[in-house]
Amino acid sequence: MNIETYQERIGCPLLRERVTSAAQAAELIRDGMTVGMSGFTRAGDVKMVPAALAERARREPLKITLLTGASLGNDTDRLLTEAGALARRMPFQVDPVLRAAINRGEVMYIDQHLSETVEVLRAGHMKPVDIAVIEAVCILESGAIVPTTSVGNSASFAILADKVIVEINLAQSRALEGLHDIWIPKKRPMREPIPLMSAEGRVGTLAIDIPPEKIAAIVITDQPDSTSAILPSDAETAAIAGHLVRFFENEIEAGRLTRSLLPLQAGIGTIANAVMAGFCDSPFEHLTMYSEVLQDSTFDLFDAGKLDFASGSSITLSPQKSAQVFGDFGRYKERLVLRPQEVSNHPEVIRRLGIIAINTALEADIYGNVNSTHVAGTHMMNGIGGSGDFARNAYLSIFATKSTAKDGRVSSIVPMVPHVDHTEHDVDIIVTEQGLADLRALAPRERAEAIIANCVAAPYQDMLRAYVREAQERGGHTPHVLEKAFAWHERYRRTGSMLENES
Ligand code: COA
Repeated sequence: MNIETYQERIGCPLLRERVTSAAQAAELIRDGMTVGMSGFTRAGDVKMVPAALAERARREPLKITLLTGASLGNDTDRLLTEAGALARRMPFQVDPVLRAAINRGEVMYIDQHLSETVEVLRAGHMKPVDIAVIEAVCILESGAIVPTTSVGNSASFAILADKVIVEINLAQSRALEGLHDIWIPKKRPMREPIPLMSAEGRVGTLAIDIPPEKIAAIVITDQPDSTSAILPSDAETAAIAGHLVRFFENEIEAGRLTRSLLPLQAGIGTIANAVMAGFCDSPFEHLTMYSEVLQDSTFDLFDAGKLDFASGSSITLSPQKSAQVFGDFGRYKERLVLRPQEVSNHPEVIRRLGIIAINTALEADIYGNVNSTHVAGTHMMNGIGGSGDFARNAYLSIFATKSTAKDGRVSSIVPMVPHVDHTEHDVDIIVTEQGLADLRALAPRERAEAIIANCVAAPYQDMLRAYVREAQERGGHTPHVLEKAFAWHERYRRTGSMLENES
């Protein structure tokens, strides 16, 4: 490793002596500690210290509570799970090995709104962070830390922790310096409003200000971020995007929106990315994003000349897109900002700026309640992430899903969702490849009609109509046949299909 290269990334001379190996730095983390690590949707996560920690946990008893911004890359959650190092984990994950351990009840997982984790810490509602481990492009002369491809919860972890370990990543371009806008709220109840008037606004500092004495160790790495694993658009996601484009065209015609719409938020995953990419061929222009993760579609929209500015908390790209974007970052940098997730996901800002939120459901019910997290009502998939921060407070709250899953054996529209992340009160639009249900200002019986008529795949439409008829015979504002409300999920568990007469 080139010593010159990394020394010039440590502007504070005092701190150059703190450079050490990952194994040495990991020794600072002891059994029972609460550790706050950088990382949000696989971007800007620390790589070396968690790997060294997993190595140690294989040899000696070591269990920690691990907090991050959101999901991690570099197999960190898998390594720590396999080593038995995770007692508790929050607020989000996407790793299959960790997911299985959570569903076996071995790791206590707290599935939390992404804007809330640091509020919970500040309020003392959980044990404080002992150590923060933060990936950095560089450390400034003052000791301030410049984050890399995500901000997430890194700033508050570093501020609240007793000690900080910094991983300087030489694979992260110095061009990232200047991208961040770190704003930290003051104490309640006299907290001032976030002075952010548009997605483009900058209200904070370029780096995480902490006293240099808090930095206990510095580790040098050149391991790149993991790339995203999203799948390309297909006929169904293209159809979902098409329905949304027509919906927005109607909104413009009705005078409720202009061609630049309002700032857009898009959730994680293949569907949300494909839907946003579908806007490349839309009549909309001068779009802005006020979102959390910026995926490939953000840069597709820049390249198509559709998007003027994107605010997020992280940048997570596919391998091809990553090479293109970071190979010519200057082209995009002035049109990007990365913020702490409590700012990118702040309910008041989302409400005030009028965000159009597009998130993904695992399933929705006939009244518009949405399950984004629990397969069959019990088994954790990923977590609520930021979808709740946005859905409840957005100008328009949209949920997209394919109308079926598992080769048609599962309907994504069911009589009653067996787990609710987003209540009917938080959901304005449900869209599948079949069509779009506009639920605004509709009563529950009308919502059921709109959803069944527009969003449901053919074999399930008649089944839902029969359910609704029977439910309405029993009456009620939100009619149900309670003993049959979860019969579809029960049938799927028994036979592998929600369809009647299948096995
Ligand atoms: N029942 C059972 N499984 C279902 C299902 C249902 N109703 N609907 C989808 N699935 C399965 C799919 O079959 C697929 O399984 P596989 O990985 O074994 O192939 C998996 O869920 C992912 O579904 P997919 O259709 O590929 O969608 P996606 O990649 O867009 O992810 C979510 C969808 C809901 C899992 C994802 O968006 C998510 O975790 N959302 C919650 C967090 C969030 O919204 N964050 C946004 C702000 S951070």
